[in-house]
Amino acid sequence: MRAEHKVQQNTRPLRALLLMSGATLSLFAVTGCHIDMWRQPRVRGQQESEFFADHSAMRLPVHGTIAQGQDKQNEPLETGFEDAPNGKKRYVKTIPAPIVVTPEFIKRGRERYNIFCTPCHGKLGDGKGMIAQRGFSLRRPPGNYHSDRLRKMPIGHFYDVITNGYGAMYSYAARIQDPKDRWAIVAYVRVLQKSQNMTANDVPAEEKSKMETESAKPSGEPNTTAPTGSEGH
Ligand code: HEC
Repeated sequence: MRAEHKVQQNTRPLRALLLMSGATLSLFAVTGCHIDMWRQPRVRGQQESEFFADHSAMRLPVHGTIAQGQDKQNEPLETGFEDAPNGKKRYVKTIPAPIVVTPEFIKRGRERYNIFCTPCHGKLGDGKGMIAQRGFSLRRPPGNYHSDRLRKMPIGHFYDVITNGYGAMYSYAARIQDPKDRWAIVAYVRVLQKSQNMTANDVPAEEKSKMETESAKPSGEPNTTAPTGSEGH
């Protein structure tokens, strides 16, 4: 009994040694002493290469490659900017081709505007949207489209504001993805600007005479030609 115990005691360091070397060996097996991945037929940037005819290891992108974010085929349409004669960029002044402004296009713009912009800018574009009125505090209030500055702003600016945001206003590019929809909104913003800044001289002669006969009618008669569009205000 006693001898047996002794034997057991003596084998302990040996077993530990075996275990340790086993562990070391398996470590090699796992990590491997292979260097295949370090020695592969690859080239570094700027290095010379015998493989290509021009002996340059660095290759140009395949002809016609378009990098992500650089796929602007029609820059004015997709950015609202165009090339200025001085080599810089400037805002476009008209809605770019191939868009044709039709009454349907403006209607689409009104619909999109009412969905995305009215909460802050209001139905009239005066910056008195519901959230602006009901305590949504922003660093700066939503812009009023009827300020002199914004009425004189080239149309490309409005497209750029929707696409990239402006100051405290974030970009709507992710929500209004189609450039045509952004332009439709821009066209409608111009309509709103006109709607609040018309004088009698802007009214076509034919309509003007209609207005005059309307206002000559005796009071009390319902005015059937009252302009609409200001519901809810
Ligand atoms: C969540 C609120 C909010 C919504 C929604 C919003 N805006 Fe704005 N907008 C702002 C704020 C705030 C400013 C003022 C930013 C500043 O001056 O820093 C602003 C400013 C503007 C301006 C004026 C930029 C200038 O040059 O002063 C325009 C134009 C504009 N927004 C257009 C739009 C259009 C178009 C939409 C809908 C697609 C829209 N905004 C939706 C909050 C909003």
